[in-house]
Amino acid sequence: MITRKNAAELEKMRRAGLLVYEILQRLKEMVREGVTTYDLEVAAERMMTQAGAKSAFKGYYAPSAGTEYPWVLCTSVNDEIIHGMPNPKRQLKAGDVVSIDTGVQLEGYFGDSAITVPVGEIAPAVQKLLDVTRESLELAIAKVAAGNRLFDICGTVERHVQLNGFSVVREFVGHGIGTHLHEEPQVPNYIDRRNENPRLKEGMVLAIEPMVNAGRPEVKVLADKWTAATADGSFAAHFEHCVAVTANGPWVLTRP
Ligand code: MF3
Ligand code: CO
Repeated sequence: MITRKNAAELEKMRRAGLLVYEILQRLKEMVREGVTTYDLEVAAERMMTQAGAKSAFKGYYAPSAGTEYPWVLCTSVNDEIIHGMPNPKRQLKAGDVVSIDTGVQLEGYFGDSAITVPVGEIAPAVQKLLDVTRESLELAIAKVAAGNRLFDICGTVERHVQLNGFSVVREFVGHGIGTHLHEEPQVPNYIDRRNENPRLKEGMVLAIEPMVNAGRPEVKVLADKWTAATADGSFAAHFEHCVAVTANGPWVLTRP
C-alpha cells in the first residue's frame, strides 16, 4: 500500500527535509582536499543532535549486509556508487567526487537526500556525469504530479541517462518515504515491467534517487558488505530528493 500524507504530516516531512538540506549544504562547504569522509560524518552527527533529530541510517539493518549500518552518512568516493562508509583514513583529493547521502527522523517523519560533490578540479567527463545525473533527477521531479504514473518518473531518469551515454544502476532503487525510511513503492531508475505502475495521487511522497555509472551498469559490493561500487571501476554519481505530490505539482521537501 502506498501511504498518502495529509497537510500536517507533510509539514513534518518538510521539517525533516529542510534539516537534511541544511546538513548537506554544510558538508558541501566542508568538502576540499585533505578533508576525510569521517570529518563529514562527525559534523553531520553533531548537527543532527543539535536539531534533536535521529539518524535515519545509523542502526539501519540491511539483510543483504547482515549488519546494522554504523554511520549517519554514506560517503561514496569516485567508483563507489552508494553506501560508502565514512573513514578517518579516506582523505579526499583533487579530482575526486564524493557522494554524500544522509537521512534524519524528526517528530516521527523521515527525510532523505543525497548530492555528489566535486573535490577541487575534476575531469570534464566526470563533470558531465554529475550534470546528467542531476538533470535526470530534475526532469523526474517535474513528472511528480497527480494523474501521472510511476513509470513516468522511472522512464524519465532512464531516458536522459541513456541518451547521454551513461548507465543506470539496477540493483538499487528509490522508494516511498514517510514514517519509515523505506515505504512503497519502489522507485527504480528504469522502467521495470515486473512492477506495477500506479497512478500518483496527492499526498504520496517519493525519494527519487538516480544512481548513474559513467561506464557499464554492473555493481560489485565490497568486502565491508555495504559499499556498492561500479564493477568496471568507472566513476558514479548519485543525487536524491524527497518529493511530495500536491495539487500544485511537485513539492521538493529536501530543499528550500
Ligand atoms: N538513501 C539511501 C536509501 O534510501 C541510504 C540508505 S543507507 C542505510 O536507502 F544505511 F540506511 F541503509
Ligand atoms: Co533514499
